[in-house]
Amino acid sequence: MSRRLPIVRVEPRGIDIEAEEGETIMAAALRAGYHWPTVCNGQGTCRVCRVEVVSRSENLREPSRFEIESLQGLPPKTLDHGEPRLACQAQVQGDVVVRKHGVRSLEEVAARRAR
Ligand code: FES
Repeated sequence: MSRRLPIVRVEPRGIDIEAEEGETIMAAALRAGYHWPTVCNGQGTCRVCRVEVVSRSENLREPSRFEIESLQGLPPKTLDHGEPRLACQAQVQGDVVVRKHGVRSLEEVAARRAR
């Protein structure tokens, strides 16, 4: 019997992404074939990848000092609800729901570019 992998649900689009335990949210999304907004390509410096954790934040590993320091530079009105995390740093340990705009399948990205 195979074990079920943790699911990251990305709102508002309701995208469900399977993540290996310990994988970052962004790495799981890229592996599953989604575009995730980024400038630094996962180095933890641009903060463009940030999400709001909507529920089950206990299923993300505690943020590292590096992630905490990176998030401290965000302007206060950047996020409206939920706990901010960097998708490129937050490691998945179980099901979690996050909010992030701009997450698209690679097909959608290609179709937008073709317009
Ligand atoms: S991708 Fe740049 S901070 Fe996460």
